[in-house]
Amino acid sequence: MFVHRRRGWEIPEREATPESQWTRRHALGAGLAAGASVLAPSLVSAQGAPPPDPTEGLYPVMRNMRYRVDRDLTAESEATTYNNFYEFGTSKSIWRAAQALPLRPWEVRIDGLVERPRTVGFDDILKAMTLEERVYRFRCVEAWAMTVPWSGFPLRQFVEWCEPKSDAKYLVMQTFQNPRVAPGQRATWYPWPYTEGLAMDEAMNELSFIATGLYGKPIPRQNGAPLRLVVPWKYGFKAVKSIVRFAFVAERPKTFWEGLQASEYGFWANVNPRVAHPRWSQASEELIGTGGRRVPTQLFNGYGDFVADLYTNRQNERLWA
Ligand code: MTE
Repeated sequence: MFVHRRRGWEIPEREATPESQWTRRHALGAGLAAGASVLAPSLVSAQGAPPPDPTEGLYPVMRNMRYRVDRDLTAESEATTYNNFYEFGTSKSIWRAAQALPLRPWEVRIDGLVERPRTVGFDDILKAMTLEERVYRFRCVEAWAMTVPWSGFPLRQFVEWCEPKSDAKYLVMQTFQNPRVAPGQRATWYPWPYTEGLAMDEAMNELSFIATGLYGKPIPRQNGAPLRLVVPWKYGFKAVKSIVRFAFVAERPKTFWEGLQASEYGFWANVNPRVAHPRWSQASEELIGTGGRRVPTQLFNGYGDFVADLYTNRQNERLWA
């Protein structure tokens, strides 16, 4: 029985984005849409530090209060310094190394079973989408969790913009490949580029989100700039970072972790406290930034009301990791 009826998520009103900031974002967004150039062409400033992000003026954006959580937000300093991004190393402390990633130009390929295969700049995607903020729980398969305010757009909106054909059954998403800036990609035993996928009905679910911002700012490189997937009912490894390709396909793709260790990481990877990882329990999770406090893990990470129906006809699949 998959249906999980609990709806206890709540966010204190004080955490909502003030209207003054919302209005500011729209004024700036309109400028961008009208072609006002805010893009810095150079990749690196004279001092050698990355240049300011050209989308900075777009954030913060209005929080969508439909998505509520019953936990405190994780401190920004924790969420931006405790990361998994194997392209930059296998430790959690890759945030400095990730600053080497150039974000402009950032071209995104849309291909496979679509009406018009094309390559688009990230800024053109932003102009076409409506941004909002969502606070979601985030649960890594390693049994730690955060609660994070993402900014971005519903994946559904983007999929419709891509005009997939009716025979597209899966959406494949891939990270950039550039071993010159991402030393982890020089390790040839990993199946680079990092590849993830969703069934089309999962991609069209209202929770599926593309994050372009975090904590009311452009998303930092270590968290997957300039755009990354967020699917909060699944383990975090599904949340592919720094995407350069969206391909619509008929067959289920082989994903990065499946290619590496299929016995431990499958395609569906839905959160379930009762299905242990082969090497550890998934019954509870550590809340990052709380000094090690653990809480019980919830089925579908607490999002069963939104997603359980996706799996009623997939009972024969390995749904849980
Ligand atoms: N995407 C890429 N390209 N490379 C990665 O190593 N790690 C995944 C996911 N996306 C990963 C990735 C894993 S295992 C997790 S838990 C999340 O990113 C971590 O996201 P965060 O660092 O923003 O918390």
